[in-house]
Amino acid sequence: MRGGAGVVGLIGSSTITSICAVESVGGTHEEDGESEGVVDPGVVVGVEDDGEEFQYHSGAGDLDLAGEATDRKWSIRCVDVVKRLAGIPVLNGLNVAIPDDMVTVVLGPSGTGKSVLIKHLIGLMFPDSGDVQVLGNSVPKLTMPKLLELRRRIGVLFQDGALFGSMSVFDNVAFPLRQHTGMSESQIGERVRQRLADVGLAEAMDDSPSQLSGGMRKRAGFARALVTEPDVVIFDEPDSGLDPVRTALLCELIKEMHEVNGGTYIVVTHNIASARQIGEYIALLWRGRIVEAGDAERMFSSENPFVRQFLSGSAAGPLGMD
Ligand SMILES: Nc1ncnc2c1ncn2[C@@H]1O[C@H](COP(=O)(O)OP(=O)(O)OP(=O)(O)O)[C@@H](O)[C@H]1O
Ligand SMILES: [Mg+2]
Repeated sequence: MRGGAGVVGLIGSSTITSICAVESVGGTHEEDGESEGVVDPGVVVGVEDDGEEFQYHSGAGDLDLAGEATDRKWSIRCVDVVKRLAGIPVLNGLNVAIPDDMVTVVLGPSGTGKSVLIKHLIGLMFPDSGDVQVLGNSVPKLTMPKLLELRRRIGVLFQDGALFGSMSVFDNVAFPLRQHTGMSESQIGERVRQRLADVGLAEAMDDSPSQLSGGMRKRAGFARALVTEPDVVIFDEPDSGLDPVRTALLCELIKEMHEVNGGTYIVVTHNIASARQIGEYIALLWRGRIVEAGDAERMFSSENPFVRQFLSGSAAGPLGMD
């Protein structure tokens, strides 16, 4: 990100304990409760491809993972990522790249692996095979101290805002700075007040999360994700549980903050209106692979029947209830 890179990334309440616990031990990936063990990215584990299942998957857009030159810079690349959970392939030979300094929207039906993908990007899960490259690092190959360093460059807004119920809004936003930086309390106070003002919560800084509406909680989570000035900001369904007007306002805020701060933003959603509003690059995920990815304009005029159906929210098309 332009400005102070290298401070802290965060974290939701479900993951915060595991991240903090791991940090205090500072050991290997196996010590991370949510991870599934260390990986050899060279090993390819059974990718199921029956042709029929992936007939609409035309690939990862203008990204050529085989290495053909493009002038785009990619902050993140997943290469042939396979991940099985409970014996079921969730990421199924996933190839995707996320462009630098743009707002990328990752769309896809429910249960298709979007949150699992995010967990791979921040090293809470590791692939059975394939590679996940974030800001020039191969995540599965990082030692735990290096992984923690990388996580400090990533801000995450989890689905429910994931605020600590026992802390005020101010302390929630200050938490990553107190945890991971040597900033003084007065520097922290200045930064936190600025971020809370950015998201329109200056008046609510002494409130507890339970006093906030759903939309305010999301904005507080957003302020916390941004407080460390990360290079990458990931939003897992920032619009879930919000009415359409608040969704549009939150998207506007995301857009504005991106314009001001730059950085690589990844917004996971199933909301097509949100994708239209903020998506500069769109990747459509289904069955653990990218159906198609590309610049928003191109995606919204795609000829691919699956992409057309999903982006128009139509009942007619290859995507059914199963
Ligand atoms: N820890 C886990 N153990 C077993 N299965 C899991 C685990 N985490 C996710 N899954 C399974 O992986 C699949 C993809 O889950 P994921 O949460 O990534 O979906 P999603 O695309 O984020 O869906 P939604 O849009 O509803 O949030 C689901 O079938 C889910 O049940
Ligand atoms: Mg999800």
